[in-house]
Amino acid sequence: MAKKRVLRGRRNFLLGLGTFAGTGAVAIATTKRHQSNQMQALADNIRSFPVVENTPLRNRAAAKGLIYGAATQKYMLSSNREFATSFAQECAMLVPEDELKWRNLRPTPNSFDFTQSDWLARFARTHNMLFRGHTLVWHAKLPKWFKSTVNRQNAEQIMLKHITTVAGHYAGKIHSWDVVNEAVSPKDGRSDGLRNTPWLKFLGSDYIDIAFRTAAQADPKALLVYNDYSMEYDTPKDEAKRTAVLKLLERLKSKGTPVHALGIQAHLWGGETRFNALKLKAFLKNVADLGLKIMITELDVTDKKLANNVKVRDRLIAGIYKEFLSVVLDEPAVIAVLTWGLSDRYTWLTEKEPRKDGTPVRPLPLDELLKRKLAWNAIARAFDSAPVRRVKHGN
Ligand code: G3I
Repeated sequence: MAKKRVLRGRRNFLLGLGTFAGTGAVAIATTKRHQSNQMQALADNIRSFPVVENTPLRNRAAAKGLIYGAATQKYMLSSNREFATSFAQECAMLVPEDELKWRNLRPTPNSFDFTQSDWLARFARTHNMLFRGHTLVWHAKLPKWFKSTVNRQNAEQIMLKHITTVAGHYAGKIHSWDVVNEAVSPKDGRSDGLRNTPWLKFLGSDYIDIAFRTAAQADPKALLVYNDYSMEYDTPKDEAKRTAVLKLLERLKSKGTPVHALGIQAHLWGGETRFNALKLKAFLKNVADLGLKIMITELDVTDKKLANNVKVRDRLIAGIYKEFLSVVLDEPAVIAVLTWGLSDRYTWLTEKEPRKDGTPVRPLPLDELLKRKLAWNAIARAFDSAPVRRVKHGN
């Protein structure tokens, strides 16, 4: 509809140009300036991602059988009432950004502290949101005691105790668990593509299968997810990652491992041109053909390398959201989109990928003051034009 309007506008504009023909050099110069201004205005219009109505993202997604949600932390929701309100309004799923990691959850080998994560689970329940778990087995954010305590003899018992206790604590109350996170790293040089982690060193490659089986026992209702990054672009690095992840998923499925979905983190890069819709589409289809669902789990767009001008920057970021989401939402196996944060006020990229000009980063749907940005519009439009899902949620 909007596209038609733009095309009509462009035709009228070009027809209008005809009336200027033959009126001398000054007129030509004026016309050129005018033409360029008009073209700019048209381009701006095309890329301003207009949306109809104020309907929040969670409702737009739900209308298509999709879930929209975001990661957040307890301190953000508890210290900023406006942020909490926006979060509840926009999101149908909450994922603790850090609170369910080993370092935060397990102060000693034999004790667990669920204070922070329980607070988030309550917030989700109170606001009618699904709750999602990140993550049961990861090589990063391990507790300080890990190195001096864990060895070949006790690693399995320590990992199993963790999964049983944590997944058991939230059994029946969690939509999905990132059971294993970032276990693939082709550059580590192994023929199976697995990352050299302490878990691999102590338990061998079977640790992934064991983790999924233990999680399935501890919470038979949760959707069990393998989650990873660097699968989005047409680069040798991402190609190798896609191939290795697919091989891992095939291996797991052929062994009967209870893995139900692939989590694609999708930390995207503004300025990266090597996006290939067909390659990504084919990968998603290969994953779906294994009988797996797909979740976009940590979507954001780094603006580190983009222009200083905020308007231009926001438009480019929105364009990337739109391009990516229109490809992934076309795949029926994709059931959810989560952004890694909701507002630019709270994003890991502020510390990890700061801009050289020192201006605040703008990678998320809402700005620092919680105002909806073009990125929000782009996501809204992507949900509005996504095909309806008829999938049953759950595993
Ligand atoms: O808690 C301290 C705080 O007291 C202190 O003021 C602050 C100063 O830097 O540090 C705080 O902790 C940091 C925390 O982020 C704050 O949110 C940790 O040091 C830092 O390690 C932690 O980083 C998190 C990172 O994972 C490592 O766990 C990010 O929040 C989180 O966004 C990021 O998320 C990861 C996913 O889990 C996996 N995929 C990639 C994604 C982005 O890196």
